Amino acid sequence: MKDNTVILSGRGVTKVFGFGANKTVAVDHVDFTFRKGEIISIVGESGSGKTTLAKMLLGLVSPTEGEIYFDGELRDIRTHKKKREYWKNIQAIFQDPFSSYNIFRKVDAVLLDCIRMRGGGNLPYDEKLEMMKRACSFVNLKFEELTNKYPFELSGGQQQRLMIARIFLLSPKILLADEPTSMIDACSRATILDMLMGLRNDIGMTPIFITHDIGLAYYVSDTVYIMEHGRFVESGTADQVILNPKEAYTRRLLSDVPKLHEEWDLSTV
Ligand SMILES: Nc1ncnc2c1ncn2[C@@H]1O[C@H](COP(=O)(O)OP(=O)(O)OP(=O)(O)O)[C@@H](O)[C@H]1O
Ligand SMILES: [Mg+2]
Repeated sequence: MKDNTVILSGRGVTKVFGFGANKTVAVDHVDFTFRKGEIISIVGESGSGKTTLAKMLLGLVSPTEGEIYFDGELRDIRTHKKKREYWKNIQAIFQDPFSSYNIFRKVDAVLLDCIRMRGGGNLPYDEKLEMMKRACSFVNLKFEELTNKYPFELSGGQQQRLMIARIFLLSPKILLADEPTSMIDACSRATILDMLMGLRNDIGMTPIFITHDIGLAYYVSDTVYIMEHGRFVESGTADQVILNPKEAYTRRLLSDVPKLHEEWDLSTV
């Protein structure tokens, strides 16, 4: 699944908020190389800069310093048009699924937007309907039960599933998942992770998980980056970083997860 093509990389990527006494270095000269199909986790405690980095990768926040390369070339998102092109390739699901939706658009409009973004705007409605139904059934939602609802009328778990249905339709090359499972119980958490893994296998999507849960990182990832105060203090394969941590900070994160292996044993789900 993982091939050697570098899909996204960065050199010296930095974000400073504010000036003078109010200055916060949220992300501090990070380097990274993400390969196609590689499952990546970025782990760090609250305030370590994970979401800020995610926003820079998405092009929602511009770096103060450093370069980001996408698909082998310096990323260029200076115009609206180029940004929209870029967003066909990289999508995100956020901590708060609510923030991902325009609350004035009903569920089917949300899904139709995705089809349009992928260039399917002119398809006959029947075909679009079929695509929406397929996307919903992929995440175990019934399209018929949702179609006339607004996203805020769904349960937290349904909203999260709808987010993944959107991703199914958008088929991005990279998916950033910022604490994607925080709102749901352990059982559906495993299901959601399985769905994301399914997408990775079906469409070769590269998932990047952003979390403070090092147990989750161990369970899902090929490569783990440990973030502390805006910097990557350690990175490597999940086994290297989590079974043989070099940094005291990583060991401290690990000490919060006493039963690493048991907690993520899916056979109990
Ligand atoms: N728009 C902003 N303006 C000023 N400071 C910001 C802004 N966004 C983030 N910060 C600061 O940057 C630092 C990193 O924040 P960030 O949200 O990236 O952390 P995080 O690792 O995602 O934390 P959490 O695990 O709690 O989500 C924090 O000190 C935060 O206060
Ligand atoms: Mg965050």
